[in-house]
Amino acid sequence: MRVIIEPNYDRMSQWAADYVINKINAANPTAEKPFVLGLPTGSSPIGMYRALVEANKAGRVTFKNVLTFNMDEYVGLPESHPESYHSFMATNLFDHIDIPRENIHILNGNAKDLAAECAHYEQMIQETGGIDLFIGGIGPDGHIAFNEPGSSLKSRTRQKTLTTDTRVANSRFFGGRPEDVPATALTVGVGTVMDAREVLILCNGHAKSRALQAAIEGPVTHWWTISALQEHPHGIIVCDEAATEEIKHGTYKYFKDIEKDNL
Ligand code: GLP
Repeated sequence: MRVIIEPNYDRMSQWAADYVINKINAANPTAEKPFVLGLPTGSSPIGMYRALVEANKAGRVTFKNVLTFNMDEYVGLPESHPESYHSFMATNLFDHIDIPRENIHILNGNAKDLAAECAHYEQMIQETGGIDLFIGGIGPDGHIAFNEPGSSLKSRTRQKTLTTDTRVANSRFFGGRPEDVPATALTVGVGTVMDAREVLILCNGHAKSRALQAAIEGPVTHWWTISALQEHPHGIIVCDEAATEEIKHGTYKYFKDIEKDNL
């Protein structure tokens, strides 16, 4: 696992955006062989999305031959709801870049048959040849996508019940009322994320410092689902200084030293 420690949120976001841009450009994708990107929502990736929009407008990267698969979506929330992940992605990224609509995939939390929707999503990912780069955030309890503590580390796309902690954390987007946050969501599994050829996790702010510590220094455990990243052959965490408060001084110095000459 690589751990990149940037001084603040803006630098973390720029690092992540540059990484994505370099990967897409190096792959030189075509319609026949597109680049396949897994994408998160939440506040963590907003700065990265802003930087990607700027880079697209400046001609540094094109999304014409990029396919995207989002991580998750609430169940039962209309797509047009301002807090649906469909709306979030349109507002923060898709409405501002040159990606063709048909290249975008987001789980339908209003499908009649939710299990079939999840199975179809997995199948579509397989049919593209798999995800090249999966980008994610982390919940304060170490969850990745909506794989709450106790989720199988081999899990696939499915419907999950959200914990009270997550509904409280996300209530800031729902007028501060946890009971207004949908009780369940569709989410890719930990196994779905770990099948990607590369995984890049964004982790910023003091509230994520326990999750970062568990992700890097703790054991691989279903209690902190992000810890599965330790077994991924190409896992990267990019974080800011504030998120490093709970890791050991030696761990901090180790990653600062080993990454000092890298991008
Ligand atoms: C939600 C999302 C996760 C995200 C987490 C953290 O639970 N399903 O994918 O990582 O929130 O969100 P934020 O980046 O706002 O802290």
